[in-house]
Amino acid sequence: MAKLTVRENGPLKVEGDFTLSDMEGNVYSTEGKPAIFICRCGATKNTPFCDGTHKTCGFQGPSRAV
Ligand code: FES
Repeated sequence: MAKLTVRENGPLKVEGDFTLSDMEGNVYSTEGKPAIFICRCGATKNTPFCDGTHKTCGFQGPSRAV
């Protein structure tokens, strides 16, 4: 089972049992990684993964479930 967590002004953390693929069905290698971080700000140079750029690009993203 996968667990997804929206990080405060940052990426989406994905952990657990999951497969990440592109729009053509090609699977990204996440082997050996206990968690991955998916970019929410759109500024990463390593899409779809977070590369930390959200910390310097002024990204503001609500992260509370309502
Ligand atoms: S959320 Fe981290 S680079 Fe976009």
